[in-house]
Amino acid sequence: MAKKFYVTTPIYYTNDIPHIGHAYTTIVADVVSRWNKLLGSDVFFLTGTDDHGKKIADTAKKAGKKPKEFVDGLIPKFKDAWKSLNIDYDQFIRTTDKDHEKVVQEILKKVYENGDIYLGEYEGFYCTGCEAYYTEKDLVNGCCPIHKKPAEIIKEQTYFFKLSKYQKKLLDFYKKNKNFISPEYRKSEIINRVKEDLRDLSISRTNFDWGIPLPFDKKHVCYVWFDALFNYYSATRRKDKEKYWPADVHFIGKDIIWFHTVYWPAFLMSAGIELPKQVFAHGWWTFNKEKISKSVGKVINIDELISLTGNPDSVRYFLMRGASFGEDGDFSEFALIERHNNELANKLGNLISRVEGLIEKNGMQKCDNKLVNELNVEEIKDLMEKFEIDKALGEIFRFIDRCNEYVQEKKPWETKDKKVLYELADSIKKIAILLWPFIPASCERIAEDFGGFKFELKELGKSLNSKTEIKKREVLFNKIETEEEEFKEEKSKERAEEKKKDNKINKSNEPKIKMVGEGLGSVDFSEWDKIDLRVAKIEKVESIEGADKLWKLSLDVGELGKRTICAGLKQYYSDKELKGKKIIYFSNLKPRLMKGVESQGMLLAASTSDHSKVVLISPEKDIENGVRIG
Ligand code: ME8
Ligand code: MG
Repeated sequence: MAKKFYVTTPIYYTNDIPHIGHAYTTIVADVVSRWNKLLGSDVFFLTGTDDHGKKIADTAKKAGKKPKEFVDGLIPKFKDAWKSLNIDYDQFIRTTDKDHEKVVQEILKKVYENGDIYLGEYEGFYCTGCEAYYTEKDLVNGCCPIHKKPAEIIKEQTYFFKLSKYQKKLLDFYKKNKNFISPEYRKSEIINRVKEDLRDLSISRTNFDWGIPLPFDKKHVCYVWFDALFNYYSATRRKDKEKYWPADVHFIGKDIIWFHTVYWPAFLMSAGIELPKQVFAHGWWTFNKEKISKSVGKVINIDELISLTGNPDSVRYFLMRGASFGEDGDFSEFALIERHNNELANKLGNLISRVEGLIEKNGMQKCDNKLVNELNVEEIKDLMEKFEIDKALGEIFRFIDRCNEYVQEKKPWETKDKKVLYELADSIKKIAILLWPFIPASCERIAEDFGGFKFELKELGKSLNSKTEIKKREVLFNKIETEEEEFKEEKSKERAEEKKKDNKINKSNEPKIKMVGEGLGSVDFSEWDKIDLRVAKIEKVESIEGADKLWKLSLDVGELGKRTICAGLKQYYSDKELKGKKIIYFSNLKPRLMKGVESQGMLLAASTSDHSKVVLISPEKDIENGVRIG
């Protein structure tokens, strides 16, 4: 019987559309799932959504929708995203699924009857962004350390789970199961925190109702994390799925390691359920070195991410290769295109089209493939076993490099050596099998070109049939044209330097005008804080050749120095009206070339509702240049 392998992703909150961070964990799980299929295991791969809780209830309310209606609307966004990235999951679970709710209620009842749940009163802090309870010492100036927003103080009747009772049991468990918390370097922090202090956990709420009611007290809904974590288990309570429990690995981001390595095993211990084998926490991706969040903009939407190269395999490849698995990584359009061009198009794509073209002309002749001795399959297997995914991919590409060198050495276009061509074709087959978990669609195309073969590691032992008819097909990866690559690279370095400088200045110049009052809106101050608004004085107003709507304005921005911007104000303001005026200037926008002039930002203005007039927004009283507004 095949060995079973059960792998999961976190279930994502349905408060927003999926972004690159969610895609990352999901691709990792898909790669590992496919790898285990290659090994011949009976794989169960679960993903899904976390539909309950205060955060979603609040978001739905703002959108003027009922929570269920709101979350239902987001499900297709997740499913479409995973489909377009070729994610081959076996089940998509939602915490609003009736059978999941039933399992959670049964477990709550059991844990309650065991005496691990008791009624009490919680008074303390809560961050809805994290859906997590905090103690005063966890907070930074009263704010959640992750969302940087003031934590809410709640005081309510609640049911507690006796987490403290599991302190010793957890520590023993970690000791016996060395891989449970992975990677190794994330372990000590968790263990130290558990050793230090493990308080009972509030697991019910009464001030909203978007959740699973407690079976023994319907006034309370179950804490969203208790509900959510059990998805991994409830999915295996379906027909024919029982055999998959316990999970072999839960892939998660490092943000939710505490929930998965402390609460989750304690809940399971209390419910008398076998524990999962491993929780593997990976790092975070930034986008152009900034935290990924709603306001970052462009590459958040999965469709747009794919459209940067037009090939979902490039995204999969980049994310698996671009960061050491476990550690943080930075995503940029530039880095994605660079890897697409240099590694997928130049190394892999060229090898295939060259070999296809040469075989089409010269044919091949079966022989003992010595080239493939340089492919270290055991090493790759070993790396995948340890989830050193980027290194395994590196090892496969090392062999691709070797094949390209071999073409250069043997010059089959001159020698027409049919045996060399056979060695190369047989090596390509092996490469395609090993790369399939990472870039499945491309490898399926290669299999088509090379006479069809199964994606199984066993197949590596079978050599290619030399009668296979091979023809040159269209290239696998279209190179993405970029204007003067070197120039662009220089530019991006320059920009990074500039940004560093800017950040330094910003730090020394905390907003001098404070936000006054409290609002009901949804702006997160940490996002707002990224915008650098300054008071500036217009010193010079000039025309730009060939631009009848633009003024070129020279600004004095105090400590930031002089800046130039192009502003579409010519129809609304004369040069005399503008000169000497104080305005509000956005200082940290990407520079843009307009009619040959580099515009280094924008200014604040409003237009009438019919767009007939644009009016500058200026400080009401005189204030020094460069003062930051926030
Ligand atoms: O936490 N880089 O859901 P969530 C890498 N519902 N990965 C990232 C990322 C980034 N910048 N941003 C998000 C929840 N992720 C809970 C989980 S599980 C029982 C309940 C990934 O929508 C990462 O895997 O906030 C992280 O753990 C997950 O998305 C959080 O997704
Ligand atoms: Mg989150």
